[in-house]
Amino acid sequence: MNKLIITIFGSTGDLTIRKLLPALSNVINTQKDFTSLSIVAVGRRAFTSEDYLGFVEENGVNHHDIDILRPHLMYCKLDIVDGSTYGQLSDLHAALMRGFTTVRKIFYLAVGPDLFIPISENLTALNLITKGDENSIIAFEKPFGHTYEDAKLINKFLETKLTARQIYRVDHYLGKAMIQKLLGLRFSNEMIHGLWQKDHISEVKIVVTEEDGILNRGAYYDEVGVLNDMIQSHLLQMFALVIMDAPKSLRSYDVQQAKIAALKQVEYVPSASLLGQYKGYREEKGVDPDSPISTLAFLTFKVHNPTFKDVPFYLFTGKKLAKKEAYIEILFKTPPSASLYPNAQPNSLRIELAPFSRVTFGISSNEENNGDELQHLALEHCYDCEFPSAVKEAYEILFNEMMAGRKTLFPSWEEIDTAWQIITQIRAQKPRWITYDQGFSLDGGKQNDEV
Ligand SMILES: NC(=O)c1ccc[n+]([C@@H]2O[C@H](COP(=O)([O-])OP(=O)(O)OC[C@H]3O[C@@H](n4cnc5c(N)ncnc54)[C@H](OP(=O)(O)O)[C@@H]3O)[C@@H](O)[C@H]2O)c1
Repeated sequence: MNKLIITIFGSTGDLTIRKLLPALSNVINTQKDFTSLSIVAVGRRAFTSEDYLGFVEENGVNHHDIDILRPHLMYCKLDIVDGSTYGQLSDLHAALMRGFTTVRKIFYLAVGPDLFIPISENLTALNLITKGDENSIIAFEKPFGHTYEDAKLINKFLETKLTARQIYRVDHYLGKAMIQKLLGLRFSNEMIHGLWQKDHISEVKIVVTEEDGILNRGAYYDEVGVLNDMIQSHLLQMFALVIMDAPKSLRSYDVQQAKIAALKQVEYVPSASLLGQYKGYREEKGVDPDSPISTLAFLTFKVHNPTFKDVPFYLFTGKKLAKKEAYIEILFKTPPSASLYPNAQPNSLRIELAPFSRVTFGISSNEENNGDELQHLALEHCYDCEFPSAVKEAYEILFNEMMAGRKTLFPSWEEIDTAWQIITQIRAQKPRWITYDQGFSLDGGKQNDEV
């Protein structure tokens, strides 16, 4: 019989409590056949397994999820950076594996990148994972490194200890329902594929905005800022999926190669870009009162290939903005005959990740009884309105992929390396910097003139 052991480092953190445990509860609940699953929550606090479940419940994991998790979950105390404390984890794994012929192990590192090397070093030193055993993998949460130099060091170290197939770099945006549907939409529909090029597109926006500020994570955010926190990972991954050529196949290697080739063709346009900080940021807990960190980025890119020549791509993200939303919007050119109509508008295609998983075409048609007035219509398909239970949370999808050993939704080192090079360019050629009012919005909100 097969055994699956998922070991979570950072088990008392926000990510584990808000995302990973509810996702694992859904995985267990939907697959039903998980008698041989063990979840080991690793932490430095002196908890029993029941204490731990009480702690996560107090911090927001609901009773239903706790009941589903309880039969599988156990807590293991250790000090991440002290190899001599890993013996207990090793003994626990040995006991859990006893009697099983095949054991798949997932070590999930829901901790900052400064802990990636010590944990990997200790796991490999005790043979909890051995190089080349593809049944054992380590998942590294984003960000993969605080800086480009840092990322290269981590990667170099990991390559000495593990093979590429054992390293899963997590960017949970790749698990989001609409991001997974994007390639199918682009490459299987002639009415989208045929229009996805410079002769028809006037501009593209990739937007991820948040109403929240930095909540209680001031010290963390003040080290990373918007470029490392959002652009380096989520927005550049979305950008790559928008501009990549069709991959040779849907195998992870081919998809990753197509994304890397695409990212290598982008050119950042500093004169049409902007970074900013919301007013009041420097008074937040944990933030340096003179902090130069940016909480907003509006970045313009060109893509150097014949398909997108001269099409501007705008990446926009930030905190304390008017609303929380995430979408990709393609704005099309208008045909010459549109000049027959005084209120003609360009067509649009919006692929929305949040608050809904939705695709909307913006088109126009005549108003009834009115020859030249156009009515603007939205043709939409909302996946989570129509199939509410079918749209899974990103982390649930990512766990399913890790269990199946599929890597398509996990960026390769070369993708991350290329993304860091783009961030390095942005840092070297800083755009204009503003402070902005909280509640700022791109479409008619406060301080629009600045943008
Ligand atoms: N939160 C999210 O939604 C989210 C989303 C995507 C990516 N991430 C990334 O995931 C990582 C974790 O985020 P988070 O929000 O969960 O952070 P967090 O709430 O600060 O939790 C950090 C976790 O790491 C543990 N930890 C830190 N230093 C440790 C040490 N020296 N020894 C043992 N344990 C240690 C903490 O244990 P204690 O409780 O004992 O301090 C805690 O369990 C970060 O890199 C973050 O950028 C987070």
